[in-house]
Amino acid sequence: MNYYILTLFPDMVMDGLNTSIIGRAKEKGLLSIEAVNIRDFTENKHNRVDDYPYGGGAGMVMQAQPVYDAYRHVEEKIGKKPRVIYMTPQGKTFNQSMAEEFAKEEELVFLCGHYEGIDERVLEEVVTDYVSIGDYVLTGGELPAMVMIDAISRLLEDVLHNDTSAEFETFHDNLLEYPQYSRPETWNGKKVPEVLLSGHHANIEKWRREQSIMRTVEWRPDLIENAVLSKKEKQFLDKYLEERKKDLH
Ligand code: ADE
Repeated sequence: MNYYILTLFPDMVMDGLNTSIIGRAKEKGLLSIEAVNIRDFTENKHNRVDDYPYGGGAGMVMQAQPVYDAYRHVEEKIGKKPRVIYMTPQGKTFNQSMAEEFAKEEELVFLCGHYEGIDERVLEEVVTDYVSIGDYVLTGGELPAMVMIDAISRLLEDVLHNDTSAEFETFHDNLLEYPQYSRPETWNGKKVPEVLLSGHHANIEKWRREQSIMRTVEWRPDLIENAVLSKKEKQFLDKYLEERKKDLH
């Protein structure tokens, strides 16, 4: 995977992505990240990349020309039209399925805006995907691009040590992950659930799935409708919901 980030703050993204697992994956050659400074492409003698909005209003707008030239620089390097993701709170909300989908690409270009946005004409020309990381407004697209790169990269082959760990985790089957415990067996007067000490793998698996189901109902009820459940698990869910209803009354 080769990532290109079109930004006014290349240091911010490179510093953030050079550490930890993503930094190590970069060193191992599993992925590459290049931050392209949009300001390097300005034709303005004062190096400006923004101007007042036509029609008036607050703030400044990033101009089309430097953004387009920065994009063309990347497109020429790649040798084909890449997928270009514009980070904007107006976009489709990023989720795990989108991360899986983007992880299949060989190149991804992230376009990070600042100020009040980017001239619409260049967005129409280059952007293939409009993506938000949630319903709140940030000062720029750099943090959202970093969030997406982190979520996508950990799905790439060999980036995580344990190749099954991305499979059995939160959002798999549209369920939250079950609770985890490690040593000691008793901490602060609290014991580890008995079943986990039993060594009985089928029972452990059943307990974990049920914990996932209950946790999803309590914390993310919006997900449970689309959870992938066996017939027995569906019965467990129905019973749990039934008893919960009684408790609430
Ligand atoms: N730019 C500003 N806020 C954003 C958000 N929530 N998601 C993506 N890009 C943004």
